[in-house]
Amino acid sequence: MDWHRRKVLLTGGASFIGSHLLDVLVQRGAQVRVIDDLSSGKLENIRRHLSNGKVEFVQADLKEPGTAERAVEGMSVVFHLAADHGGRGYVDLHQAACATNLVLDGNVFRACYRAKVDKIVYASSGCVYPNHLQANPEEVVYLTEDMVGPPYDADNMYGWAKLMGEMTLQSYYRDWGMKSASCRYFTVYGERGHENHAVIAMIARAFVGQDPFVVWGSGEQIRNWTHVSDIVRGTVLAAEKIEDGTAVNLGTMERTRVMDAVKEVLEYTGRQAEIELRPDMPTGPMNRVADNSLAKKLLNWEPEVKFYEGLHGTIDWYFSTKDREEVRAVLDQRLTERSAGTSPTTDSTKQKLATNYTKHARA
Ligand SMILES: NC(=O)c1ccc[n+]([C@@H]2O[C@H](COP(=O)([O-])OP(=O)(O)OC[C@H]3O[C@@H](n4cnc5c(N)ncnc54)[C@H](O)[C@@H]3O)[C@@H](O)[C@H]2O)c1
Repeated sequence: MDWHRRKVLLTGGASFIGSHLLDVLVQRGAQVRVIDDLSSGKLENIRRHLSNGKVEFVQADLKEPGTAERAVEGMSVVFHLAADHGGRGYVDLHQAACATNLVLDGNVFRACYRAKVDKIVYASSGCVYPNHLQANPEEVVYLTEDMVGPPYDADNMYGWAKLMGEMTLQSYYRDWGMKSASCRYFTVYGERGHENHAVIAMIARAFVGQDPFVVWGSGEQIRNWTHVSDIVRGTVLAAEKIEDGTAVNLGTMERTRVMDAVKEVLEYTGRQAEIELRPDMPTGPMNRVADNSLAKKLLNWEPEVKFYEGLHGTIDWYFSTKDREEVRAVLDQRLTERSAGTSPTTDSTKQKLATNYTKHARA
């Protein structure tokens, strides 16, 4: 696919992943319109493209009637990343908010169909995989795409909405011929990441010198954190090579224990701290790692960034760009919310956390 002068809509383009995707699309010469309501995205992530006039930016809520229709007008490819989303602390504690993605995705897909866009690429997630396959950290399981099937058992309303998004696109292709691809991102990290995701949370705790150093869960959870540069490369390849709505995993096959990642963060940052385990806090599945052979086959894609290498780079970025006092003031709130973090944790989140904590204290 030739990206030069191609008209591309990037929803959620001011986000962590969206802004990295924007960097690549601009570099390839695409004419990009970003639409984002800035509910968690930040203008500073994309400012340099706005100031040199290379990108059109629209601030609007895609759930509002008519907005998606206006946004997709004249577009060839749509990368759909806008979502009500956050890390584990957010998706566990904000089910209703995540359910609104059903409306958001439905609006965007329908508008794309009506406007006859050539291709839509959807930011899906490892959260579509059945919870029951991810319960035992002792088991070596690699999640293959075909494991998403009856009996469906997605991870929270967030995961169910992503699953419905994928299935909607597959139906649109089967029944109406609309071309699409879904990319199942696995726990993405890197520069511009947010503290409501585990890796950035660990780095932030080290940055403010937290002691005891809090780890949610038992620390035995297994993850395959995947660097944002690999995610973006895979997403562009999916736009180029998939058209029938196939969902493909974008994730490394490195199995890393949360506690090992914590130790690496402490060692690299030269901190020493007591570890305080908090099993009462949201932890997610115990064992989530992708199989990426389908991406190798269909996209000729393989992750290039090893976890510890990417982790060190992300720590260097965080430590060189953040202000310690500011992070200290907002960290607790950022762990469970999506915003940039000046408002206090909402009352309903406080209530849910307090309930968890009381249950844990009683146990
Ligand atoms: N970060 C991860 O580990 C991860 C993993 C799997 C999937 N994803 C998906 O990747 C995408 C990008 O996530 P991210 O981590 O970069 O950050 P994010 O959650 O901040 O990205 C969502 C973006 O969409 C915008 N947005 C939300 N609701 C909107 C609306 N109604 N109208 C317009 N814009 C709206 C937000 O302001 C934000 O810029 C999301 O779809 C997310 O579900 C992320």
